Amino acid sequence: MQFRCHGCGTTVDAAHALPFRCPQAGAGDDIDHVLIAEPPDQAFPSGAEQNPFLRYRTLLSPYRLARAASLSDAAWSEIVEELDAALVTVDGRGFRLTPMIEQKRLAAALGLKDSLWVKDETANVSGSHKARHLMGVMLYLRVLEIAKLPAGHALRKRRLAIASCGNAALAAAVIARAADWPLDVFIPPDAGAAVKQSLQNLGARITVCERRAGEAGDPCVLRFRESVAQGAIPFGVQGTENGLAVEGAHTLAFEMAEEFSRIGVVPDSLFVQVGGGALASALTQGFALACARGVLAKMPKVNAVQTASCAPLARAWNKLDGLDLAKAARHRSRFMWPWETTPASLASGILDDETYDWWAVVEGMRTSGGRPVVVDEDIIACARDLARRHTGIQASATGTAGLAGAMSLPGDQGSIALIFSGVER
Ligand SMILES: Cc1ncc(COP(=O)(O)O)c(C=O)c1O
Repeated sequence: MQFRCHGCGTTVDAAHALPFRCPQAGAGDDIDHVLIAEPPDQAFPSGAEQNPFLRYRTLLSPYRLARAASLSDAAWSEIVEELDAALVTVDGRGFRLTPMIEQKRLAAALGLKDSLWVKDETANVSGSHKARHLMGVMLYLRVLEIAKLPAGHALRKRRLAIASCGNAALAAAVIARAADWPLDVFIPPDAGAAVKQSLQNLGARITVCERRAGEAGDPCVLRFRESVAQGAIPFGVQGTENGLAVEGAHTLAFEMAEEFSRIGVVPDSLFVQVGGGALASALTQGFALACARGVLAKMPKVNAVQTASCAPLARAWNKLDGLDLAKAARHRSRFMWPWETTPASLASGILDDETYDWWAVVEGMRTSGGRPVVVDEDIIACARDLARRHTGIQASATGTAGLAGAMSLPGDQGSIALIFSGVER
């Protein structure tokens, strides 16, 4: 099971080394390093399992690694089901296909001519789609342990680490607890008291990261990287730090593609809220895999939504101006650098100062005919309120920011797909 860096081409054999950060990253070469699993050659699965990590297993790299390491299909099911049972104990729920429903009242309120579909991730494990990303990583770690692969040597001596104080941190804490694996969470001094309490209840060790004199960049990310350099396992949701994290959320696109196929709808546009970019990257790749296997006739146009307060992806898009993307991957800093001003928005979960997974999202927008959409604060608030009133889904303003994007583009976008995620806490 090989992973390949989309920037420098380095390959990593996932049985022998952890395919998380590209081994060449950090060399100061200005290349955009992200490891991606070699694409599966399997057809789209047709099983009826309700757990996405069982249903779509043949398309997931940890499963392919397990089979290559001579674990049986039943052994994979056991790994998934054991973790799932532990998730039920820790979080009251395991992974199940989440609902995607046509929202006619919301479409009418917006005056849309075509259909509007919302995939509801608020009732997913830990209350957001983030758990999908991290379940993919945990399944890989479990396969290494159970198959006794070289990359798993002394694995349990290493703690998991994440820099986040929102949905990603909560997802990491729930999954780490279910797997009985110690977790360090690096948070800013102003992290919410409720999130801190939940993390502590879940047994995570919290480190509050103050800015140190003369230090540039996010102090939480800097402390996280130091901890990884000392041996911690990167358990966050940024493809640059852990390429495998993106893949778990392919399941979200697989579920959507399969449901669209079942009901005979080909969505024209997908509006997705973008912070670090892992979600949009995963959706783009997942839809592409489903389209290549004939599940959908075409990719929806991928439109990446950011707030006006922090829009590094739109900035990169404008700088690219049609440039060859392979070239752009070798000159990252010309297109992506930290947002210069301190952002503020109701959609606080998408204020990442860099779109870490920008390259894959740009590629997805280009190939699908989509574009970045930058939305003002009043539309962010309006989208959240309309979403609650007309769908009953209690998502946060971060989690309905995709709708804000759909509302702010003029003209007819055809049938629209959205993801509401991040339950209001
Ligand atoms: C609810 C919700 N939706 C979307 C996102 C954006 O995801 P990404 O950072 O992968 O772009 C986040 C990120 O925190 C989130 O919490």
